[in-house]
Amino acid sequence: MPKKIAAGNWKMNGTSAALTQLEALAPVAAASTGVLTLICPPASLISRAAGLGVEIGAQDCHAAVSGAHTGDISAEMLADAGASHVITGHSERRQDHHETDADVAAKTQAGWRAGLTVILCIGESEEQYRAGQTLDVLRGQLAGSVPQGAGPDNIVIAYEPIWAIGTGLTPTVEEIAKVHAFIRAELGAAHTEGAEISLLYGGSVKASNAAEIFAVADVDGGLVGGASLAAADFAPIVTALAAS
Ligand code: 13P
Repeated sequence: MPKKIAAGNWKMNGTSAALTQLEALAPVAAASTGVLTLICPPASLISRAAGLGVEIGAQDCHAAVSGAHTGDISAEMLADAGASHVITGHSERRQDHHETDADVAAKTQAGWRAGLTVILCIGESEEQYRAGQTLDVLRGQLAGSVPQGAGPDNIVIAYEPIWAIGTGLTPTVEEIAKVHAFIRAELGAAHTEGAEISLLYGGSVKASNAAEIFAVADVDGGLVGGASLAAADFAPIVTALAAS
């Protein structure tokens, strides 16, 4: 059975004061048997966030171990700071930083090199969705950005339709079911044990729709942006996943 994961991506939000949200979340995480509760704060908070009772991930890494890359951070540095996971391929990185599938694959391998579990994001744009190209886009992203050697112990795939991120819009449960079944089949065909990889849905997940989304076949959890910033908002999402 793929692992259940409730992951929060704080994006570029949060200073020291936000650490109290992790302390508030810790008892909920501890009580949610069978669910891995993970928060990906900004890199500046990782070392202080680790050890507060919630698993900690990073939002991006450079492909190299070290070197002349001003402003970048390596997977080894993230692991050293206390991260156990790293997100790669988020659409905000693919768009704002022009990251290609090859970049995402290299960053994913860097995460593995440092012993991190990678949460690799894929998703179609609104234009591609409207044109009925979703599965073709995802097939290409999976083929181009998921390296050989991917399996349930080193990778998690997050399906995040770009048009659903921060918009309050979500696909229908039927659409999510179809896409997740497709991703499961593609991973199963391409990688040993690929069908056991956890699949997260992301894009406007909140307490009010979490139970419905987590009940969908092949949805093993969520990657949550805005609703992960406050423990009061994220806790019911974690609880909904535990109950699913
Ligand atoms: P929202 O939950 O704010 O839509 O963000 C989703 C996301 O991009 C998580 O990585």
